[in-house]
Amino acid sequence: MTSRSEREQLLQDAHFNPFLLRAKDVTIDLLTDSGTGAMSSNQWAAIMRGDESYAGSESFYRFESVIRNLTAMPFILPVHQGRAAEKILFSITGGPGKYVLSNTLFDTTRANIEVAGATGVDLLCPEGKQPSLIAPFKGNMDEAALENFINDKGAGNISMVIMTVTNNSGGGQPVSMANIRNVKKICSGYGIPFFIDACRFAENCYFIKTREPGFQDRSILEIAQELFSYADGCTMSAKKDAFANIGGFLAMHNKALADECRNVLIITEGFPTYGGLAGRDLEAIATGLEEIVQEDYLAYRIRSIAYLGEQLDKEGIPYLKPTGGHALYLDAKAFLPHIPVDKYPAQALCCQLYIEGGVRGVEIGSVMFGKYDKDGKLIPAANELVRLAFPRRMYTQSHLDYVAEVIVQLYHSRSQITGLIITEETPYLRHFTAKFKPDTTKILQDDLQEIAL
Ligand code: F0G
Repeated sequence: MTSRSEREQLLQDAHFNPFLLRAKDVTIDLLTDSGTGAMSSNQWAAIMRGDESYAGSESFYRFESVIRNLTAMPFILPVHQGRAAEKILFSITGGPGKYVLSNTLFDTTRANIEVAGATGVDLLCPEGKQPSLIAPFKGNMDEAALENFINDKGAGNISMVIMTVTNNSGGGQPVSMANIRNVKKICSGYGIPFFIDACRFAENCYFIKTREPGFQDRSILEIAQELFSYADGCTMSAKKDAFANIGGFLAMHNKALADECRNVLIITEGFPTYGGLAGRDLEAIATGLEEIVQEDYLAYRIRSIAYLGEQLDKEGIPYLKPTGGHALYLDAKAFLPHIPVDKYPAQALCCQLYIEGGVRGVEIGSVMFGKYDKDGKLIPAANELVRLAFPRRMYTQSHLDYVAEVIVQLYHSRSQITGLIITEETPYLRHFTAKFKPDTTKILQDDLQEIAL
């Protein structure tokens, strides 16, 4: 526990970027659900059985068979985390003049597409763009926009369509099976490969089971198997829905593409039966993938986040609705309407959550996704959100009650919160390392008003 005055100093020392805080100074850490979950006793036991052979490790074959059972894909490449799969895939399939289409790309996915010279395009359905609207599948892709885009740019210029399930940057919102089926059909019609970014596939399948007609009586594993059956390939960060602290994989049906990917894998990650991981990591992932499809766990997880939403509803606090699979996203534009987007309201809200109660979230707004036009003016992101992502199997209801109290307290004093100005930034993924200072314009205006009185 830290005091408010300590947190004010710590945040100033971290240049108003919660990524730069030391974790020991954070009371409730909702920065990410990635690699931060608690492993089960079975996962730890599996770790003890890890076969650390350089080539042909038994742990790899176990890892491969669990993933093959899930995806039915013949070519499975282990990687050290999700973005390594993205780097390999897009360095081969991307390139100048190419487009990669998605419901919404995650930031590392977009960055890997752009570094390869291609352009990433989000084609989110209209419901997904309205934060306060309640709809079952706000993560869906806009099917009409997809067809129009393909006709406009030419199918030959589209490297692939990659569907993010659940849609992380779009609020942890699920994609329906119907949408996946339709998008696959459109892609097949034009000969465009269809991939899935499967980081949170099990949470997505739980939403399909509970919200989409026809799936109520199917197990999560069966639903997941159907979901993967439509894909030509997938990338996965095992730090999410595999309960692992590190790891990931790239899987596909196409042998020629798999051969090319394996060549890059050997150069950048490691031999194809370990791909940048230890044998024990492969074991933890294999066991985690078996555990994640357990419905009781998923019910507890999805319900916990909905519960936090219900606490905020009592006070009319704006957040992206409905609550997502791994996180609740506060709507900073509605929470702090007095802060303009070029003063980064979501970053400001994130900083204040830390000062108020030692709660760390992450900005998903114009710091993360903003760009500059040729005159150096900010092109803002579509939404200004603060994501509160819940590590798996970590926090209890009393932690959630505490977080709700902190948010409610902050909401009552929201008019006092001021915006931020960027003082240092990098060209790619600037949110990780950018430095900020408070925007003092409002404070100066208040002082002048006081003098005038
Ligand atoms: N795709 C999605 C949808 C993700 O959420 C992430 C990571 C990645 C790819 C990349 O995976 O971190 O293993 O390299 N998301 C984390 C987050 C970092 O906080 O949402 P990675």
